[in-house]
Amino acid sequence: MRLTLDTEARTCSIETDAGITTHDLHSEQAFEQLSDMWVRLGWVRKYSYGFSWLGRPIIQLPEDMIRIQETIFRIQPDVIIETGIAHGGSLVFYASILDMIGKGQVIGIDIDIRPHNRAAIEAHPMMKRITMIEGSSIAADTVAAVRGMISAGDKVMLVLDSNHSRDHVAAELEAYADLVTPGSCILSQDGVMQLVAGMPRTGDDWAENNPIPAVEQFLQRNPHFELRRPYRPFDETQATPDATHHPVGWLWRTA
Ligand SMILES: C[S@@+](CC[C@H](N)C(=O)[O-])C[C@H]1O[C@@H](n2cnc3c(N)ncnc32)[C@H](O)[C@@H]1O
Repeated sequence: MRLTLDTEARTCSIETDAGITTHDLHSEQAFEQLSDMWVRLGWVRKYSYGFSWLGRPIIQLPEDMIRIQETIFRIQPDVIIETGIAHGGSLVFYASILDMIGKGQVIGIDIDIRPHNRAAIEAHPMMKRITMIEGSSIAADTVAAVRGMISAGDKVMLVLDSNHSRDHVAAELEAYADLVTPGSCILSQDGVMQLVAGMPRTGDDWAENNPIPAVEQFLQRNPHFELRRPYRPFDETQATPDATHHPVGWLWRTA
């Protein structure tokens, strides 16, 4: 694909094997192409590694974080389960939104909680709303431990951000999806792997081995979940694309 921006003629031309289409530079189509390219180049440049929340590094695009906070505020979950802790910024982020709501706990799971990360998370004021479990997210004892922390009637939201291989995400969905309550959702992160496959800083098999096929197969077997765009209670743009790392990632439980 060849993308040509002409700021004098104010055009955006997209050339593929199928031919060339030329759009007004200010059109929806041009903005979509540039957003898509921004996400791809940002992946290569590690743009999402430059942010933190209340002092802890968080590996997310700020736009995704804005969508996540609005979702948490809408669902008002009692429990957020997240696989993949890393530095703990996402746990602290969710915990701080729950703290503002005035209820709720975050359960974080990671196969390797580094001692300096554990110490910093444990020292954080938001630790009062966080529980960490060390182990593989799909190990039977981890799954049992998480299940043991959920009480009857809890509203549960699930975020998958650990190993993003197709099989691992499929196994995580199998292990935890039934805990997610109607009206709540699963956020399967990093479907962007499919979009950026073939670029620098990617794996050879990412075109197929990524979370999206796992999500699609899960949806076929679980019709009480449906894909929706991230929740936008305020949106005067309508056509603005989601500049996101989590395409095909928001699965809402309808019943
Ligand atoms: C992308 S990072 C998580 C980022 C974090 N959620 C954030 O937003 O800042 C992925 C984490 O998943 C963990 N991980 C990898 N395989 C795992 C597994 N099988 N079970 C649990 N955690 C795993 C890694 O140790 C790593 O800390």
